[in-house]
Amino acid sequence: MKIAVLPGDGIGTEIVAEAIRVLEVLDLRFEMESALVGGAAYDAHGHPLPEATLKLAKEADAVLFGAVGDWKYDSLERQFRPEQAILGLRKNLGLFANFRPAICYEQLTHASSLKPELVAGLDILIIRELTGDIYFGQPRGRRTAVDGHFPGAEEAFDTMRYSRPEVERIARVAFEAARKRNRKVTSVDKANVLETFQFWKDVVIDVHKEYPDIELEHMYVDNAAMQLVRAPKKFDVVVTGNMFGDILSDEAAMLTGSIGMLPSASLNSSNQGLYEPSHGSAPDIAGKGIANPLATILSAAMMLRFSLNQPQAADRIESAVKHVLASGLRTADIHSEGTTLVGTRQMGDAVVAAITKTITKS
Ligand code: IPM
Ligand code: MG
Repeated sequence: MKIAVLPGDGIGTEIVAEAIRVLEVLDLRFEMESALVGGAAYDAHGHPLPEATLKLAKEADAVLFGAVGDWKYDSLERQFRPEQAILGLRKNLGLFANFRPAICYEQLTHASSLKPELVAGLDILIIRELTGDIYFGQPRGRRTAVDGHFPGAEEAFDTMRYSRPEVERIARVAFEAARKRNRKVTSVDKANVLETFQFWKDVVIDVHKEYPDIELEHMYVDNAAMQLVRAPKKFDVVVTGNMFGDILSDEAAMLTGSIGMLPSASLNSSNQGLYEPSHGSAPDIAGKGIANPLATILSAAMMLRFSLNQPQAADRIESAVKHVLASGLRTADIHSEGTTLVGTRQMGDAVVAAITKTITKS
């Protein structure tokens, strides 16, 4: 088993370092190899996703990814911006199924921007299609308008599109996931306006015929954005397209109190996956040793479960994280009165210690 480790930019290096320490203490047999990605790769090799990095990722069973991006790259031509690295990895590895769980940990209920009773016990799973939609649709570009409101004016355009197999496979992923949970899927669309999403809805209804045991609900994206802050616990599995999923998953993340807690997994059809925290590179706090490493540590747990077939090791990491939270340790993003403020390294130390304890016990 081989893990490609791509820490990236900003806090990426600090948080991935802690996840690696956690993986190492588990004493499993796999190989890890690191490479540059994002702005760090651009600085060193002139490209955010160098050939060698892509090759390493393709050959690995799983990719452990930190984060990419920094304001200093904002003026670069689009193809050289750090974000192109993650988009390139998703596309080249065919990582079409993105799992973004939003779980509100008991001890962090008060950290949510919503009233505690709305989020206590929240456990929803957003499944975002990750390789299609307006993110990748062609054609796209700039041109002179020949029609529209201002013929002759300069304009820009992107293409929103989904094929039947693309929608079928992500719908199946959602129904299968719901089977292991509370058997409800909410498919989020904009069928009232967009042809692409009327088609999405039609295909989801077709696939649902294979899953009569699962309750299927359809919701327009604007309403879904509202229901997520009104009654988030009514959701179980939410399945949606690439762009709506991008937006709704950030919203859902915030319900849990801290985006610093949320892992994510992006899988292809052979269960090869890329695992990354749901948050970004946070250049404002990079290098200060204060970032929360738990989202990355929990992403490593997802990696063990989904791509490396080590469910017990994954359980061990997840219980260690719960144990550490229960003991009152908090990084700045989740800190509150009566808890103990710690840095990135100390948080990693605490998880490692909690795992070591369970290993010696068993
Ligand atoms: C995400 C991010 C990315 C996206 C960016 C960095 C390209 O926002 O993973 O949600 O838009 O998909
Ligand atoms: Mg996003």
